[in-house]
Amino acid sequence: MTPLKNDLILRAALGKEVERVPVWLMRQAGRTLPEYKAVRAKAKNFIDFVKNPEMAAEVTIQPVDILGVDAAIIFSDILVIPEAMGLPYQMIESKGPVFEKIIETQSDVNNLKISEAEDLSYVIKAIELTKKQLDNRVPLIGFCGAPWTLLAYMTEGGGSKTFSKAKKFLYTEPKLAHQVLEKIALSSINYLNAQIEAGANMVQIFDSWAGALSPKQYKEFSLRYISMICDGINNKVPVTVFAKDAHYAIKDIASINCNTIGLDWTMNPDKARLDAGANKTLQGNADPCLLYADEETIQTETINMLKQFGKKNYIANLGHGLYPDTEKSKIKFFVDTIKSYSFN
Ligand code: CP3
Repeated sequence: MTPLKNDLILRAALGKEVERVPVWLMRQAGRTLPEYKAVRAKAKNFIDFVKNPEMAAEVTIQPVDILGVDAAIIFSDILVIPEAMGLPYQMIESKGPVFEKIIETQSDVNNLKISEAEDLSYVIKAIELTKKQLDNRVPLIGFCGAPWTLLAYMTEGGGSKTFSKAKKFLYTEPKLAHQVLEKIALSSINYLNAQIEAGANMVQIFDSWAGALSPKQYKEFSLRYISMICDGINNKVPVTVFAKDAHYAIKDIASINCNTIGLDWTMNPDKARLDAGANKTLQGNADPCLLYADEETIQTETINMLKQFGKKNYIANLGHGLYPDTEKSKIKFFVDTIKSYSFN
């Protein structure tokens, strides 16, 4: 295998020395760049787009060429797993995902399939194509949703502010919830291992709705299954866990078999470092809205962030995904500020 020309992110994830802090952005492959929108306009709908390996590879590579980030993330969605398990969804413009069937009963759970790599062959093809076209310039990040976050969509039937229906399911049907979570975790292990085999150099688990749970519920219904996935990857590539709004869980996340912990912008870097210990890598955590500010403000805040986290065991990123109306020049300015900063 030819070595990567830029492996900064992998070294940072493994706690090795780096010449400078590496950077990538959540949701860099989509929504924001005009170049993304041009490709998106050619697809009939979002799901057809996700299932088209050529288009997926094209928008995966765009941020590497246009923004100069230190990694690509494969263009797909966390909801491909519920679909592969038997729950199809639609992505409705300006509303978000909608599932036609939801999980309520034991027979719904029994009907859920543990998905195999072949069920998601279009993502695997997109990864293979992307790897070829990237030509080892930067690492490729694979990903999946955390079992709790996916269960939340599979029981609500779509997005929600409170996820109260999903939480009701945890309180009223804990046994069923555990069965669903285990099936999702097993599907995700198959999926991530196939992504790794196809060339993903690291993987991230997105627990976007971690913040809806109490600390006790988080351990029981979320972290346990994230840990199962981490163990299922068995250190083949570095793993990042991004649990949004889960301040209370950093110490517990640090105890599982992951390399990097993603932080949202409400988390304090010093406190996170104390909770995570010296050996985990931290990732984050600029407020995506910082990129609406003027360049001087972006520069000051970004350098503050870099100083707080330090050079070692750190990957710069936003604290959540880029917003669609962010200006391309501001995103590039943020990336360049990080890449040109020198610690001494
Ligand atoms: O990061 C990247 O750029 C790679 C691609 C990626 C997408 N979704 C593409 C996408 C990734 C990593 C995701 C993850 C994802 N999807 C998460 C976890 C991360 C997070 O942001 O919290 C979640 C919760 C979803 C579910 C999802 N997908 C929702 C709720 C929506 C609709 C609302 C929205 O944010 O747009 C999507 C749609 C989606 N996924 C789009 C893209 C580019 C926009 C749809 C479009 O272009 O038409």
